[in-house]
Amino acid sequence: TIGNSTNIKWHGCPVEKTDRQKLLQQRGCVIWITGLSGSGKSSVACALSQMLYQRGKLSYILDGDNVRHGLNRDLSFKAEDRVENIRRVGEVAKLFADSGFICIACLISPYKRDRAACRAMLPTGDFIEVFMDVPLRVCEGRDPKGLYKLARAGKIKGFTGIDDPYESPLDAEIVLQCNTGDCSTPRDMAEKVVSYLEEKGYLQ
Ligand code: PPS
Repeated sequence: TIGNSTNIKWHGCPVEKTDRQKLLQQRGCVIWITGLSGSGKSSVACALSQMLYQRGKLSYILDGDNVRHGLNRDLSFKAEDRVENIRRVGEVAKLFADSGFICIACLISPYKRDRAACRAMLPTGDFIEVFMDVPLRVCEGRDPKGLYKLARAGKIKGFTGIDDPYESPLDAEIVLQCNTGDCSTPRDMAEKVVSYLEEKGYLQ
């Protein structure tokens, strides 16, 4: 039995990940960007995707906000739905990595356990966690969508950082720090991720 299904069997195919990677001349992996709303996840993801494109590397962004328009449109922000949101995106990211893509997932992904579960879905080394270490006061100061204001006014319940928890990672491969209002640009931050990928041989 697999999950709720019985009588299902895995089908292999002679064309494997290594073949696809050879064709694409890159190594599939998942770059998982976690952080508070307004911490700059999507901007870094986009800058990173552009830099990779310029180097001839294929990437694809799975953005929490966007995925909730389609695949995860049935999910809310209550804890059990956030868990399912992360699980599904983790599974999709795994498929992208297996296809040979560099998959960039950017979701708040507030709970450690769920991020660890996504990490466990991938071969060792292929899940690269990036922590947007931006304090709440900076994110709230930016408030690009006006959501913190609504949350403070009690008009949004269960908003991450206000009345819902965010569990900072202690084991992220990359920490992008921004302690003041004067943060580095998304480009500078994405550059650090590119250096890491280079160092680990993902961009050869
Ligand atoms: S999660 O926690 O990982 O399931 O969230 P995610 O799928 O990344 O979606 C986060 C974006 O949804 C908007 N939003 C909220 N965020 C947090 N808490 C609550 N209650 C909420 N309601 C709506 C918000 O714009 C987040 O966007 P980002 O891009 O993170 O700023």
